[in-house]
Amino acid sequence: MPTIKINDVELSVNTGTLVLDACRQVGIDIPHYCYHPALTPVATCRMCLVDIKGQPKLATSCTTTVPPAPKDNPDAVVMEVFTNTPAVADARAGVMEFLLMNHPLDCPICDQAGECKLQDYSYNYGSGDSRMGEVKRRYRYEDLGAKIVIDKNRCIHCTRCVRFTREISGGGELTVASRGSHLEVTTFTGKSMDQNPFAGNVVDLCPVGALTSRDFRFKKRVWYLKSVPSISRHSALGNPIWMDHEGNQVHRFRPRPLEGKETTHFISDEERYAYVAYNRKGQAPAPSLKGAPATLDAIREVLQGVGTVAVIGQGTFGCDTAQRLGELASTPELRYGSGDKTIPVLLPKYQTSADGIFNRRGFTERGFRFGTLDELLAKVQQGAIKALVLLHDAAFTSNKEAELLGQILKAAPFSLALEVEPSDLGRAATAWLPIASCAEENDFIVNHDGELRRYQKALQAPKGILTVPALVKELAAVPVPV
Ligand code: SF4
Ligand code: FES
Repeated sequence: MPTIKINDVELSVNTGTLVLDACRQVGIDIPHYCYHPALTPVATCRMCLVDIKGQPKLATSCTTTVPPAPKDNPDAVVMEVFTNTPAVADARAGVMEFLLMNHPLDCPICDQAGECKLQDYSYNYGSGDSRMGEVKRRYRYEDLGAKIVIDKNRCIHCTRCVRFTREISGGGELTVASRGSHLEVTTFTGKSMDQNPFAGNVVDLCPVGALTSRDFRFKKRVWYLKSVPSISRHSALGNPIWMDHEGNQVHRFRPRPLEGKETTHFISDEERYAYVAYNRKGQAPAPSLKGAPATLDAIREVLQGVGTVAVIGQGTFGCDTAQRLGELASTPELRYGSGDKTIPVLLPKYQTSADGIFNRRGFTERGFRFGTLDELLAKVQQGAIKALVLLHDAAFTSNKEAELLGQILKAAPFSLALEVEPSDLGRAATAWLPIASCAEENDFIVNHDGELRRYQKALQAPKGILTVPALVKELAAVPVPV
């Protein structure tokens, strides 16, 4: 590996490493706008300039790569980079002045305030002054369909959004029109972003507040939000996301890119808008037994006295949950897996499986057998199984599977459904118990690629509603004699 020096600190990196990435390795964050690890570099914003010894002009660190070490002297320092010279500071301040020339001072009403790179870099690298005496260019807000709103006054022409629609989502809805100070990002005539199932990503990509989400616009100041690492349950791979919440309500989902994992940069709009389902409405659901309100003790008593128990776990819950649920089965063979949602593969590079049961692997590793529900039905009909415990989320079950599960529940002398909210299937069970949602618990999954992904609690479950591991502990507890 060639050796380079960054501000006199030596490090060895792979040949071809971007100088910007090499700087990051020694803890130096180079300011940048147009660079994005998942997009083709274009080096248009000029914010990432660095001084390289022996080069007459400053160089863009987002496109300059580390050369190979000379064969006859592999230990030689191949490049000396300086990120803190007066020339670099001058260049950054100059770029900031240009970018702010036409940018409105509307931070108090801008959705991006608090997470805006223009704000951050202007504080850190700007001169604090402007020589702009002319009237600023003005545009009206425009809807790019129902999901995205553009404020061109704020655009700094980094073209990340344009490159995303061309290189990643593929629709090419966005383009740049005109020249010079009239340059503007716009859609091709008659196109909107509504048909793009990944449109929401342009909002995350925009380093300023030019592209905003119709759904999140003016809803929350971002500094009130707390971000908790979680996973998207509506992706085949359990994509890592940030769950931004406040006041025990989730307000948005954003992608949570993992270091060195390009496939984690983007999420689909279906995943993005799924946050709504995690906000509980109305009163918390209560346990029931034979259609009437019941206590957990009453349900436990029936379950413990009924005979052989089998469990059905849907592979969309966490591994801890699977482990504990499995313990309720009378024998390890009586653990059955369910769930049959599929997710169409629109971007093969980002989605390696169409199987929407994203923790199928985690459940299988804990003894749950998928595709064997017919066998379970036969056993129940033969009377070999007396009770069933079903862990279920209706969003991941097809009508066909729901019908089969319905037959199994009907044939069993006793059935207990564990759900966040009661579904038709849950109501058909003899007993029903509410459980905490994935936003209300800590757990992890093992996705189809064998990657372990953790998620953390963001919301407080209503009083009395337990996670599945806690609930199983209660259901398996030996009652204290009175
Ligand atoms: S709208 Fe945002 S992402 Fe697109 S070019 Fe302008 S600043 Fe960049
Ligand atoms: S980030 Fe390097 S030129 Fe824009």
